[in-house]
Amino acid sequence: MCGIIGYIGHRQAAEVLLHGLSQVEYRGYDSAGMAVSNGKDLRILKDQGKLRDIHAKHNFLQLEGGIGLGHTRWATHGPPCERNAHPHYDCSKRVAVVHNGIIENHRALKAELEKKGHKFSSDTDTEIAAHLIEEELKQKKPVDSAVRSALSRLEGTYALGILIAGENRLFLARRHAPLIVGRGKSDEMFFASDIPALLGYTRDFILLNEGDMAQIDSKGVKIWGADGKEASRPPLHVDWTPQMAQKMGHDFFMLKEILEQPITLASALSADVSEGVKLLSGAKRPAIVACGTSYYAALVMQYLLHKQKREAGAYLGSEYASWHTGQEDVVVAISQSGETADTLSAIRLAKKEGAAVLAITNVVGSTLSREADATLYIGVGPEVGVVATKTFTGQLAIIYKLAYSLSGDKKGMDALLQSPAMVQKMLDSIRPAVRELAKLMSKRRNFFFISRGIGWPCALEAALKLKEITYLHAEAYAAGELKHGPISMLEDKVPVIAIAPSGALAAKMESNIRECKARGASLVVLSDDETIRKEGEHALVMPKVSEDLVPLFYILPLQLLAYYMTIELGRDPDQPRNLAKSVTVE
Ligand code: F6R
Repeated sequence: MCGIIGYIGHRQAAEVLLHGLSQVEYRGYDSAGMAVSNGKDLRILKDQGKLRDIHAKHNFLQLEGGIGLGHTRWATHGPPCERNAHPHYDCSKRVAVVHNGIIENHRALKAELEKKGHKFSSDTDTEIAAHLIEEELKQKKPVDSAVRSALSRLEGTYALGILIAGENRLFLARRHAPLIVGRGKSDEMFFASDIPALLGYTRDFILLNEGDMAQIDSKGVKIWGADGKEASRPPLHVDWTPQMAQKMGHDFFMLKEILEQPITLASALSADVSEGVKLLSGAKRPAIVACGTSYYAALVMQYLLHKQKREAGAYLGSEYASWHTGQEDVVVAISQSGETADTLSAIRLAKKEGAAVLAITNVVGSTLSREADATLYIGVGPEVGVVATKTFTGQLAIIYKLAYSLSGDKKGMDALLQSPAMVQKMLDSIRPAVRELAKLMSKRRNFFFISRGIGWPCALEAALKLKEITYLHAEAYAAGELKHGPISMLEDKVPVIAIAPSGALAAKMESNIRECKARGASLVVLSDDETIRKEGEHALVMPKVSEDLVPLFYILPLQLLAYYMTIELGRDPDQPRNLAKSVTVE
């Protein structure tokens, strides 16, 4: 996975690019480079190896100028080496290009350009873009039209950054690969493949749509949609600081990782899911395999696919061998670490039986991603706390994006893209109430979580979070199941935490809540509906969200509740006893 950063402004670009690239190193890469212009001339420095070693050898800071592009490369076309590292030049060395993705028609375009006399100096598909732009510029078109016509020739996937000598602006474009624009405080603009790359400079972003092309100068951004017309895209403010792998003033990583979810969600949502859409759209009998928290994300995916009338079974990795049918044609494996032995066993069996494997993971280069036919990375940055928090919501983000892309649900997609901002607002407003609730709840010893429909996997995950780090007993049930047995446990103010959003299932949920109250339980009700909340001894006010998005929003206060209860109990939420971040034994 390549990392990209672009900068234009009053600082020395090389300094900004170097810092930005160091923030996306976790993506994995084999070479790095940058192109810098002083407005007139441009120069490139690049090499194979780690950023700090390339910098020690070549000193990126010798590149002077306030306009630049940086890149970390994960080799696809051509081996890792200096000549294949990005940026790439055209023949005149006036156009520099960085790219993430694959230009599928590169062979045909290369042959065409070679006939016109272009000489190529790398094995990459990327270099084509620089020569195509050079060719269009020869036609004496305005520079932005020349770039647009060149890009219209490209097939495949790309996030592209383009720097042209003599221009006081940078161009960028994306199709099925992440790229975001960052707005600086004064007279400076940025773009990058990942939000963390820019957090040292700005928290104001613009998320580009698929097929957008844009131009940034030091004052602002101009965007053209896929139809070539000028477009505006909504801003996203992320209220956070840059240090992804530090505690950032928090006592524990877990709290830091819960609170950074507005940012990590936005990162996950900018992922390219087209490979997944390609695999799943033709699947007749898809299956989803995962363990623990990732299995609850798998249940959400199963629910969304069933809603689209697609048959799909969610299986625990460790149970797949016993329960599968052998007819599965595509197996989606969800794993934050990509190293979970039970999940890997399941995909190996599925592959042996002829299924294609689609991985959803956070870790570039993990075993799962290497063995899968295609991988969707959730891209939420390192999760240091042992229990899954931001990786769960990152998995959900990818699952929703995949499901809505499959069904073409534009309304669902729009609501999803608004979620990072809504999540930020909710976390800010709900935290004090959750903290107070945690003080009371930490005195109890047994907990029940209930919900219905798509809320049920959320109840399962909330119970898992609580028991993992507090070591208290917690169980989750589909609310309708209580009366089939567990209701006998409800006495003496046992807390029952009800995930009870308004909507089609609300009336039945309300009855289940009353059943519990009638048996002496102490109800904690999470709802956007005041009438339902009034049924609770305690309540948390939730925003109104679509039914699909209930797990994404409702898990957040419940992650916080588990965290604050653990603190009340004086335990360590980051390193709970007996647990490991990746579980590599069956
Ligand atoms: C819970 C948790 C575990 C993992 C499970 C699978 O907080 O982290 O339940 O979800 O061990 O791990 P991955 O997702 O790495 O396959």
